[in-house]
Amino acid sequence: MNKPLNGIKIIDFTHVQAGPACTQMLAWFGADVIKVERPGSGDVTRSQLRDIPNVDALYFTMLNSNKRSLTLDTKTAEGKAVLEKMIKESDVMVENFGPGALDRMGFSWERIQEINPKMILASVKGFSDGHEYEDLKVYENVAQCAGGAASTTGWWKGEQSGPMISAAALGDTNTGMHLAIGILTAYIGRQQTGKGQKVAVAMQDAVLNLCRVKMRDQLRLDTVGYLEEYPQYPHETFSDVVPRGGNAGGGGQPGWILKCKGWETDPNAYIYFTIQGQAWSPICDALGKPEWKTDPLYMTPKARQPHIMDIFATIEDWLKDKTKYEAVDILRKFDIPCAPVFSMKELLHDKSLRASGSIVEVPHKERGSYWTVGSPIKFSDLKPEITASPLLGEHTDGVLAELGYSAEQIAALHAAKAV
Ligand code: COA
Repeated sequence: MNKPLNGIKIIDFTHVQAGPACTQMLAWFGADVIKVERPGSGDVTRSQLRDIPNVDALYFTMLNSNKRSLTLDTKTAEGKAVLEKMIKESDVMVENFGPGALDRMGFSWERIQEINPKMILASVKGFSDGHEYEDLKVYENVAQCAGGAASTTGWWKGEQSGPMISAAALGDTNTGMHLAIGILTAYIGRQQTGKGQKVAVAMQDAVLNLCRVKMRDQLRLDTVGYLEEYPQYPHETFSDVVPRGGNAGGGGQPGWILKCKGWETDPNAYIYFTIQGQAWSPICDALGKPEWKTDPLYMTPKARQPHIMDIFATIEDWLKDKTKYEAVDILRKFDIPCAPVFSMKELLHDKSLRASGSIVEVPHKERGSYWTVGSPIKFSDLKPEITASPLLGEHTDGVLAELGYSAEQIAALHAAKAV
């Protein structure tokens, strides 16, 4: 099968999650991704939260499939020479080191351009260049706080109030996906100009980009003083900042997570129920409440909002003898937007996800095999084949040979502990 990114050579100088998620996706689509890792230890995630002793942890295997691994100590003169050779012969270098690390290593953007003017350098940092926090090292949850997600997620009152972190990797994988778009854009640009360029995505910016509708709400709040689709409206007061909206969240469609049969013992016996304006009439039919369609207290979103929690309570009453699956099976017949709250266990075993390749099993030399999340992007002419993550340094000698090193030179690099 033709893989569109075949022939693109990527130096993968990434670690942890943000960078590896980006390069993994490019590898799925055909790029030759060579992960450059420190000899002896490699990417820190190889040993983080191991489920099997002395075997690469799932954190690593799930973010580094389809890559090759080269160990290289880029702080030695010999290691620097190898990296220089790689830069000459590659198209893209991706890195997510702490601020300034690449410069300290001797590979500033200026130096990289000298070595290969066609090189695309793609970087993830916590904050953008010139930002007052540009010197900070940043992890996932820090980015969620810096990019607006934490201040707008969670409960606004009660014991559980306070900014809340999402379990989704809004800071890490999300930033990596933005970077992948940047890399491909720069690559297409290079076909037009013959020149590489530096592409940078700050985690703060990538989170903010996902919080666009919350910025919309800030602008509306500044003008109007209230947000009519938030649970605070109309009974509570608004301050001058966008409040957390509990399970209303998102883009501002009125909806909530509602209990179904069995919620007392099953932490995921819930569905998400949206009361979209256009779905109101079928919702009334599905719930057996046709009178709501013509009742002035229920007819419009504006009329419903003051007692929306009572409406949800009525729907919860309707749900109490139905499992989440039964409820969705009824509601789908009426074209009502809704979904069960799926647990990770349910997703892992989901037949549809396995059939579509969104959940895949991958054979691995040391683990036997592992389950992982496959490509969320589907093509008509490309079915990404997910292959195992590499062992540390598995491809060192092969990559060096491809770079033109002789067996003696490779042995000398090993002896110098440069690889
Ligand atoms: N050979 C020699 N040295 C290497 C090397 C190699 N193959 N790979 C990395 N190093 C060195 C770096 O040059 C750096 O050296 P220096 O700081 O002495 O100049 C050192 O390893 C540490 O790198 P750093 O990236 O700063 O690691 P860290 O563990 O201290 O910080 C992060 C981790 C993730 C916080 C930091 O990398 C970061 O903020 N990255 C940008 C934002 C990001 O991507 N965060 C999310 C990660 S999911």
